[in-house]
Amino acid sequence: MKAIVYESNTGFTQRYAEMLSEKTGLPAYELETVKDQLKTGDEVFFLGWIHAGKIRGYAKAVKQYSVKGAAAVGISIPDEKILPKLKTDNKITDIPFFYLQGGVAPEKLGVINRKIMSMLASSVEKAGIKTEEDKKLVDVLRNGGDFIKEENLTEILAFIGENPK
Ligand SMILES: Cc1cc2nc3c(=O)[nH]c(=O)nc-3n(C[C@H](O)[C@H](O)[C@H](O)COP(=O)(O)O)c2cc1C
Repeated sequence: MKAIVYESNTGFTQRYAEMLSEKTGLPAYELETVKDQLKTGDEVFFLGWIHAGKIRGYAKAVKQYSVKGAAAVGISIPDEKILPKLKTDNKITDIPFFYLQGGVAPEKLGVINRKIMSMLASSVEKAGIKTEEDKKLVDVLRNGGDFIKEENLTEILAFIGENPK
């Protein structure tokens, strides 16, 4: 693997990409601005934020590079249904694929997206707060905050470790 390539809107995916870079020694590049640093077909690990079920940047990354593994960063609480759904919706078939919980930075979102986050908080509340995680999710959706933890990267680090440069 040559590098970590990512697309991030408000910085959470970027933080995960930078943590991975630090741990693996691979450089992390933003998809939008990476150019001379990588060649077409180079092997990369891709991370993209989830926007209405779509992993932003994934389709473009696949066209430019040989994406050996990928991670989607969203706000949903991880469960067994997330990966299969994201895979179908983003046409991910034959690569190792991971889900990471990111966060919400209201100050970096426009009015409409802030409203969407607050509507999402209400729908989580309506469905019923069953766990501490549900409670934290509602708070993060309304007030901002994050779920980023180094230990969320354990599986991805193991995968990258098995596929060195
Ligand atoms: C308009 C909008 C739509 C979103 N749609 C989803 C979604 O479908 N599933 C999900 O898990 N998270 C969704 N999110 C949450 C983001 O993926 C999450 O906040 C992520 O951490 C953002 O990463 P970033 O800071 O790298 O942009 C959405 C966020 C916004 C603003």
